[in-house]
Amino acid sequence: MIKVVILVLLVSTAFVILTNLSNAQVLRDQDSSATTIQTAPLEKTVEQVFRNIKVLNGMPQSQIYPAMRFMAASLGFQCGSCHVITNDRGDFPADDKPEKQTARQMIKMVAEINKTLGEGRPTVSCFTCHRGQRTPQGAPILPLPILSPRAAVATTGTSTSSSLPSADDVLIKYQGAIGGTVAIDRVTSCVTKGTTTTATGQVVRYESEQAAPDKGHEAFTLPDVGGRCAGDSRCEYERVVNGQQGWLNSGGGVQELVGEQLADQRLSFLLFGILRLKDQYSSFRVSGRDKINDRDVYVVSVVRSDNKRERLYFDVENGLLSRRISYTRTMIGNIPQQIDFEDYRDVEGLRLPFTIRASYVDASSPIITRKFAEIKLNVPVNDAKFDKPLTREPVIK
Ligand code: HEC
Ligand code: HEC
Repeated sequence: MIKVVILVLLVSTAFVILTNLSNAQVLRDQDSSATTIQTAPLEKTVEQVFRNIKVLNGMPQSQIYPAMRFMAASLGFQCGSCHVITNDRGDFPADDKPEKQTARQMIKMVAEINKTLGEGRPTVSCFTCHRGQRTPQGAPILPLPILSPRAAVATTGTSTSSSLPSADDVLIKYQGAIGGTVAIDRVTSCVTKGTTTTATGQVVRYESEQAAPDKGHEAFTLPDVGGRCAGDSRCEYERVVNGQQGWLNSGGGVQELVGEQLADQRLSFLLFGILRLKDQYSSFRVSGRDKINDRDVYVVSVVRSDNKRERLYFDVENGLLSRRISYTRTMIGNIPQQIDFEDYRDVEGLRLPFTIRASYVDASSPIITRKFAEIKLNVPVNDAKFDKPLTREPVIK
């Protein structure tokens, strides 16, 4: 018994050391507060969960579906282009389709290329070559466009002239733009009501409760299309974050939110993703200027405390956050997820976005738009909302 405990301790220490080693790069840019980087609960790898994994070994379990959607989107494929699907049910472990076999070779090739390029960073992905097509284009399309004499002259250093502000400047301006630190620090809870779109574009009621320092709950109910919900709770969705734990309740059952999913979920709440934005990251660097809908923005590269890389886009003029892109680093590429913040309005002395639009590399759910009808601050929140949702018996039809 004692031996087992010691072994577990040894293994978990080894894990902490390993994660810290891989964090070394990030730590270099940070101050001593970096030592508080939490070690997330051990996440299972895909080969521990799925039946017929030959090349994606070592990939965290939570990445398999994003990776599959990324491969599909990169090739203009659907799941059924590589997998056997009969009567709407996929037999995902089956190896019958040649495309699946080719995909395995391609995954290995991509890993090799990235190893050659260095650091194993996923610089090259399926999309680098495929660009949304089954067969990559190997050469420029002829005839080539005729260059105007002026353009033929090498464009001499379109200098990234205008000097960039420091990350501190951008963040201080941001804090001021949303209401100032005093007003921000006063907020201990946030309750929102409004609507969200579903994968198929329907608009349903949505509500959330959030409480400092790290609790959030959101819920919505999918419409009962064709009696699918059969009057039970299968169409009710709930997502909860409670400190280092989190759950997704999709009616049929409760799933643990693991790994990056937890921080992703926390950031989706206004209290954390807007009001306490700065606390979510361990490093900030202004990396350039860009434009979003004709407005100038500063691009700030940030690293989350769970090590995930993101880019934040701040409006140059008004200082507000207009976009956040997070990148899930997988062995087949960096998978982006983009969140746009729009329709900022005054709420008790603060400025908060009333429309949040999330875009995913997911052909079956490309955009989810959330619109708030009301946002209330510092109202009492029922703490039971943040408990693990109760598993309800799935109803068998
Ligand atoms: C380009 C081809 C391709 C596409 C498109 C694709 N997959 Fe896969 N999928 C694979 C390959 C290859 C594997 C096996 C990976 C390995 O061997 O490590 C796999 C494995 C899986 C597994 C694990 C099966 C098991 O139990 O071993 C699941 C689940 C899965 N895919 C779901 C999906 C879903 C859902 C989609 C659509 C969103 C999809 N896949 C799209 C190629 C594809
Ligand atoms: C370096 C460029 C490159 C990258 C990166 C790449 N591919 Fe390919 N892929 C090709 C080329 C070229 C072909 C066509 C090969 C042929 O026709 O013989 C191809 C063909 C395929 C096919 C077969 C299509 C068919 O017509 O049956 C699949 C499936 C595929 N790739 C999946 C992937 C996946 C999944 C990834 C990412 C894990 C990926 N590829 C990354 C270059 C690439």
